[in-house]
Amino acid sequence: MELQNDLLIRAAKGEKVERTPVWLMRQAGRILPEYRAVRNRLSGFIELAQTPELAAEVTIQPVDILGVDAAIIFSDILVIPEAMGLPYEMVEKKGPRFPKTISTDEDLKALKKADAKSDLGYVLEAIKITKKELNGRVPLIGFAGAPWTIFCYMVEGHGSKTFSKARRMLYNDPMMADQLLKLITDSTIEYLKAQIKAGADIVQVFDSWAGILGPEQYQRFSMKYIAEICDAITEVPVTVFSKGAFFARSEMRHLNCETIGLDWSMDIQNSRRLIGENKTLQGNLDPCALYAPDVEIEKATKKMLDEFGTSRHIANLGHGVYPDIDPNKVKVFINTVKEYSAKLRST
Ligand code: CP3
Repeated sequence: MELQNDLLIRAAKGEKVERTPVWLMRQAGRILPEYRAVRNRLSGFIELAQTPELAAEVTIQPVDILGVDAAIIFSDILVIPEAMGLPYEMVEKKGPRFPKTISTDEDLKALKKADAKSDLGYVLEAIKITKKELNGRVPLIGFAGAPWTIFCYMVEGHGSKTFSKARRMLYNDPMMADQLLKLITDSTIEYLKAQIKAGADIVQVFDSWAGILGPEQYQRFSMKYIAEICDAITEVPVTVFSKGAFFARSEMRHLNCETIGLDWSMDIQNSRRLIGENKTLQGNLDPCALYAPDVEIEKATKKMLDEFGTSRHIANLGHGVYPDIDPNKVKVFINTVKEYSAKLRST
């Protein structure tokens, strides 16, 4: 199936585009009443993610309702630990929780490499259905967590400001940390390849907790494994989003990927200088800007587009859209990107 709107893929590859493509991290779910209507029919997030027809439905909602240039498959980064033998729960209003965590060699030995086909077949099925229903309208983004971010949840057991348990292991037992990170990496490579085979047109690696490591540890325990993933995925373009890793931008230029995600703390011009001309940059409006009056959203979006310029940019927020943002504000952002970025190219 040929894509009718392939702006995102062309921008990722550094090809010329008529306007800047736009989508939002965490666009599926969270902000749409239409999502909540589907979710409320079920026991919760996990059941929805494991029901392929419904996961496909909520994946496509933002394409229809918001007019984004890509869909991102409705799932979560935590399906990987579950497939490795560490199940998670989603606690209402609090987020994910792992009843068991990894702290000893025995815990580690009880894990296995995830088998994408048998353990994550429901995601692959959701991708196939989504591709069929999208019918080439926009590309479909597959995704996974970066090994370091997944490690954080598996060791800590839940979200945390410091992830001090996870970081403690890097000092106390770096060998064990490496073994766990390697097992996650191998599982993730196979999983991303299976997503691509099922129909994902591009894949993104989310390193949400990159910013809690110092530069040396980031290289040693996160970037190294992300690089392995990038080297292994040759089928489609790869995006790496390492939230908070401003200190690693000059090393990111060496990753074997097409696109680097920027959060809103990363200055656009400096990022371009540090990362170089050979990568597409994705981002990076502060998600809080969408709480502002429409004219201010337009202003901030235009300023962002002016700074990125007309080549190698995919417009997005600097992190996932916040759950209490009015979808109409998201539309202001999206429409401003579409109109203003086309105008920038015609003058
Ligand atoms: O982009 C999309 O909307 C696709 C779906 C998607 C979800 N999670 C669905 C979800 C994606 C891409 C993710 C990624 C994810 N999950 C990340 C990386 C991106 C980031 O935000 O940094 C992380 C760290 C997680 C882990 C996670 N899952 C947390 C911390 C939470 C609780 C807080 C929250 O985001 O709501 C979740 C739950 C979750 N994942 C929900 C959804 C729609 C809410 C669950 C519900 O509806 O009850």
